[in-house]
Amino acid sequence: MNTAWKIGSLDVPFTVPFVHRLRFTRDVFGEDRLVLAQLLEPAEGPRARVQFWVDANVAAAHPALPGKIDRFASEFADRLTVTGPPQVVPGGEALKNDIHALQPMLTEFHAARLDRRSYVVVIGGGAVLDAVGFATSIAHRGLRLVRLPATTLAQADSGVGVKNGVNLFRTKNWLGAFAVPWAVVNDAHLLETLADRDFLAGFAEAVKVALLKDRRLFEELCEAADRIRRRDMAVCLPIIRRSAELHLEHITRGGDPFEMLQARPLDYGHWSAHKLEAMSGFELRHGEAVAIGVAIDTVYASLALGLDPGDAARVLACLVQLGFALDHPQLGDLPQLLTGLEEFRQHLGGELTLTMLEAIGRPVDVHDVDPNLMVRAIEQVRLSARSPRLARRRCVTRSEPCGQ
Ligand SMILES: NC(=O)c1ccc[n+]([C@@H]2O[C@H](COP(=O)([O-])OP(=O)(O)OC[C@H]3O[C@@H](n4cnc5c(N)ncnc54)[C@H](O)[C@@H]3O)[C@@H](O)[C@H]2O)c1
Ligand SMILES: [Zn+2]
Repeated sequence: MNTAWKIGSLDVPFTVPFVHRLRFTRDVFGEDRLVLAQLLEPAEGPRARVQFWVDANVAAAHPALPGKIDRFASEFADRLTVTGPPQVVPGGEALKNDIHALQPMLTEFHAARLDRRSYVVVIGGGAVLDAVGFATSIAHRGLRLVRLPATTLAQADSGVGVKNGVNLFRTKNWLGAFAVPWAVVNDAHLLETLADRDFLAGFAEAVKVALLKDRRLFEELCEAADRIRRRDMAVCLPIIRRSAELHLEHITRGGDPFEMLQARPLDYGHWSAHKLEAMSGFELRHGEAVAIGVAIDTVYASLALGLDPGDAARVLACLVQLGFALDHPQLGDLPQLLTGLEEFRQHLGGELTLTMLEAIGRPVDVHDVDPNLMVRAIEQVRLSARSPRLARRRCVTRSEPCGQ
C-alpha cells in the first residue's frame, strides 16, 4: 500500500455563463437578413463557416429558398463563407426515428470542415431541429447551432429549448444532448406555408405553458381560439411570441435548464403525449398528442389535486375550440398508455415526478399517481370529447365559463 497516496475528495461547484439569443423577424432572408448575418459573427480569422440545413417540406414549400440563401451568402461574403448549397433532410418524425440519418449529417459537417466556431443554420420543424441539432451537439463536441424554427410548435416551444435528440428503442428522445443553441430566429414568413394541421399543433404547447405560468395567456388563447383556427396572424404571432418568451424565461431563469432536478415542468401533459405519439405509430403530431395529454392531466388535477373543475372544463373547451380532437382510439388501450408513466420516470431516473396543476398558473410536483383516478380522467376526457355540447361551446370570457 502506497501511504503517500492519501484518500481525498474535491467537490467544487462552478457555473458557466451562457447567452441565449432569440430574435423575431418578419422575413429573415428578405428585409431582415441583417439579423441573421449579425448572429453569424466571425469568431477569429476573417470569416465564419456556415452550413445551411433545410427540412425537405420547407424546401418544397419555399422553392425560392436556395436562391435567397445564395444571395445572402454573396451579400455577406466578406464576413462568412457558406460551404455549399443547403443540405435537405426529410421532414417530420421519420427523421428522428432513423438513427442512421445521423451519419450523413456528420459526414457533411466533416466534408465542409466545420469546427466549433462554425455555424449550422437549420430551418425546419421541431423534428428536423432536434435531429440536426443533436448531430451538431456531438460533432467536435458542439458546433454553433442557429435554429430557424419553421412550425408554430418549434417557434413557441421546442426551438427555444436546449434539448436535442432522436428517438430510439421506440422511445421518444431516448438519445440526445442538452446544448444551448447559439441563436434562435423566429421568422413569421416561414410559417405561412405550414399545413393547417401543423399550424394548429403548436398552440397545444402554448396552452401548456400558459397553464403553468401565465393565466392571462390562457385567457387570451381561449378568447382568440376561433381566430387562431382561422390563422389570423394578428393574434397568432403575439401568442407564439409570448409562449417563446415564457420558455426562454424558464430556461434562463428557472434555475434548472439542464433538468438536473426531478421535475420537468415544461413536460406537463407529456407522459401520456409521448406514449400516445409512439402508440399511434407517430401518426399523431406531437402537438396533437400534447393537447390530449394536457387535457388528461388537467382533469386528473381536478379529480386529485383540487384544481377547480370549472377551470378544468374550460381547458378542455379551449382545446376543442382551438380544433384539437381530444379522443383517440389509442386511449382505449389503457394498460399500454399507463406504461407511459413508468417510461417517464425511467427517462429521468429516481422517483416519479410529474408537474401537475393546483390552479391555473400554479403548478405542483407530485410523486404519486392514483391509477384509478387517472383512468377516470382519461375516460372523462374521451367522454367530454364526444359531447356535442362541449364541441359547440365557445370559450369566450372568464365570466362565461365553458363546457360546464
Ligand atoms: N427539443 C425540445 O425541447 C422539444 C420540445 C417539444 C417538441 N419537440 C419535438 O418536436 C417535434 C415536433 O415538431 P413540429 O411540431 O414542429 O413537427 P414536425 O417537425 O414533425 O413538422 C411537421 C410537418 O411540417 C413540415 N413543415 C415544417 N415547417 C414547414 C413549413 N414552414 N412549411 C411547410 N411544411 C413545414 C415538416 O416537414 C413536417 O412534415 C417532435 O419530435 C417533438 O418531440 C422537441
Ligand atoms: Zn412538447
